[in-house]
Amino acid sequence: MFLEALRKVTGTLPSAPPAKRTAKVLNIASGKGGTGKSVVASNLAVLRAQAGERVCLIDFDAGMANAHLLLGLVPKYDLGHVLDGQVSAGFALVDGPAGIKLLSGGVGRAALQNPTPRELDRLFASLAQLEAAFDLIIVDHGAGMGVATVAHIAAAQSLLLVTTHEVTALSDAYALYKHALSVAPDLRTGVVMNRAPDEATARGAWERFEGVARRHVGRVPEYVGRIPLDEAVLRSVQARVPVALREPHSTAGESLRTVARWDAIDMPTKASRAFYESARRALR
Ligand SMILES: Nc1ncnc2c1ncn2[C@@H]1O[C@H](COP(=O)(O)OP(=O)(O)OP(=O)(O)O)[C@@H](O)[C@H]1O
Ligand SMILES: [Mg+2]
Repeated sequence: MFLEALRKVTGTLPSAPPAKRTAKVLNIASGKGGTGKSVVASNLAVLRAQAGERVCLIDFDAGMANAHLLLGLVPKYDLGHVLDGQVSAGFALVDGPAGIKLLSGGVGRAALQNPTPRELDRLFASLAQLEAAFDLIIVDHGAGMGVATVAHIAAAQSLLLVTTHEVTALSDAYALYKHALSVAPDLRTGVVMNRAPDEATARGAWERFEGVARRHVGRVPEYVGRIPLDEAVLRSVQARVPVALREPHSTAGESLRTVARWDAIDMPTKASRAFYESARRALR
């Protein structure tokens, strides 16, 4: 009984290697909601796991989580339980497809939608224990620049921005890019143009984005690729199995594989400091 309670808060993690290592962390964000972050995050997680990495997906769309739905999982615990101190981050993980682990975001939890810096600090301290147990942590953020997203970006080496070609999504993506560079000037930012009906539409939208960024920020992000509007994605959402597993040779499946090879994902965390330690400093 006591041991079970102890295990809950100290956590059970996949066998950590003896040497001290820290996971790479990939943040996936967008300005506007509904651009496809969770679809991209869940597919990148399974693709990188298939390539042999120990991958943890954290659904930081706290309070409005849905990554578990895309993966067909019913998590018992989520970030809210970790925030409350009921369980450790390691204990809250659930097994997902292709060997990934998911830390779910929790649905309808008010505390998670508007966490105070103090609460986030506690949560980040708990998430830090995941870094030694994984090769890659993928963080699926909520839309926009909430406190948690800003702190993650400030600590990050890379950021994947998911947008559509629509003018509203592009404009919000640009605002996020600008804000991101203000908290992390060395950030490598990649843009994924999702749901564009054809390559010309995607390219046209990218060129507009690039032009505005060049003129107003003096820098441009990297074009990581287009994921086409593909019914295979809709079928996979319905089936609750990532498209990269269910229909790997669909056009969306193939382009997600290209995105998974973006070399900025492989950059190690910032010199000398573990990721969540930097994120905690960013909260101060
Ligand atoms: N390439 C695509 N082709 C077809 N449909 C897509 C594609 N990408 C995403 N969708 C559809 O868009 C929906 C929303 O995607 P997703 O949940 O990933 O967006 P999100 O950015 O995470 O949203 P939120 O801001 O609410 O977190 C999916 O459920 C799916 O139906
Ligand atoms: Mg989402």
